[in-house]
Amino acid sequence: MLILGIETSCDETSVSVVSISNKSIEVLSNVVSSQIKLHAKWGGVVPHLASREHAKNIDHVLKLALKESKKRVKDIDLIAVTSGPGLIGSLMVGVLFAKTLAWKYNKPIVGVNHMEGHVYSNWLTPITNDKGQISNIKKEKIFPALCLVVSGGHTQLVLMTGHGRYKLLGETLDDAAGEAFDKIARILGLGYPGGPIISKYAEKGNPKAFALPRPMLKHKNYNFSFSGLKTSVLYLVRDLDKNFQGSTLKIPRLSLRVKHDIAASVQAAIVEVLVAKTLRAAKEYKAKTIMLAGGVSANHLLRKTLIESAELLDTKPSTLIPSLEYTTDNAAMIAAAGYFNYLKNNPDASKKLKGRGSDQSVGEKYSWRSIQADANWEIF
Ligand code: KG4
Ligand code: ZN
Repeated sequence: MLILGIETSCDETSVSVVSISNKSIEVLSNVVSSQIKLHAKWGGVVPHLASREHAKNIDHVLKLALKESKKRVKDIDLIAVTSGPGLIGSLMVGVLFAKTLAWKYNKPIVGVNHMEGHVYSNWLTPITNDKGQISNIKKEKIFPALCLVVSGGHTQLVLMTGHGRYKLLGETLDDAAGEAFDKIARILGLGYPGGPIISKYAEKGNPKAFALPRPMLKHKNYNFSFSGLKTSVLYLVRDLDKNFQGSTLKIPRLSLRVKHDIAASVQAAIVEVLVAKTLRAAKEYKAKTIMLAGGVSANHLLRKTLIESAELLDTKPSTLIPSLEYTTDNAAMIAAAGYFNYLKNNPDASKKLKGRGSDQSVGEKYSWRSIQADANWEIF
């Protein structure tokens, strides 16, 4: 079955062609056109510029994805498009584009939740099964799975008991982990997005140089809070540079070494809290697997610490971590999530879809008429 994934929820325009059988998931193409440079000079994503860029680029990105996969829209069996959550203007560009394709080529279409897409980025990474074969689809033994979803807008601990079956165990009460990285990078004058820059600076810094708080580490629940950490960094920077008032227009006068040390201390604080709570939940819910998802899962220290600490648990969960290319926003993960959503409602989808795709064969639920952008769609 061939799935065309489309993602435009924030500042990446992405189109992917993914081939899925009951044996494997193969990404034939995954083109991502990033707008980071455009937004960097404003210190964050500017919504109306983002939608304009999506509208300008999406057709070209589709053409590149089709060319790379050596497929045509006619060959596609299912269109999967991110329909929320995200920036409404950006979502609407992708949704309208996908609906038009579905209408024109008479294809079934599924609206995918962006956060669920991040969870399914874990299915794009091949794993070795019991028989030593590389497979990335026969993963039924992974449930219950504990998933730490960490992006620019979300920090959530989700228990996944089956495909599309989620229980939210806890989430951030204020800033998301990625947002904390971004805001702290802005205080330090390091640019946008903050996560990759802070982790780069952290490589040369001492994580114990500054004693920063570990918010809610000792709380018995699975919630998080990162805005206090950001405020602590602001106060620390003001102490180190008496002329710095925290204005977004001013960059503090700090030595490179101090910036490295602050970055390392911030990263250590965020990772410690994320990993501790994830492991505690994995233990309590006897998770067979621990998964990471979302842009912050690109963080090297987080990946390493989670794998190493999970090995020490007596429940011996396995750890699944998306390949780096699928950690930040991309359409391949949307195609994978769309497939499993479709499969749930059409158990023999791969047979049924071959050479068909009319509205009558797939029902109104998967018709272009039923898909709408929803900026606030919460799935967990
Ligand atoms: O999932 P994503 O691409 O977009 C959203 O859905 O939000 O996540 C973007 C977030 C940003 O906050 C960015 O700073 C963070 O992921 N990020 C990282 C790293 N790479 C991206 N955070 C920490 N370390 C990284 N290496
Ligand atoms: Zn995302």
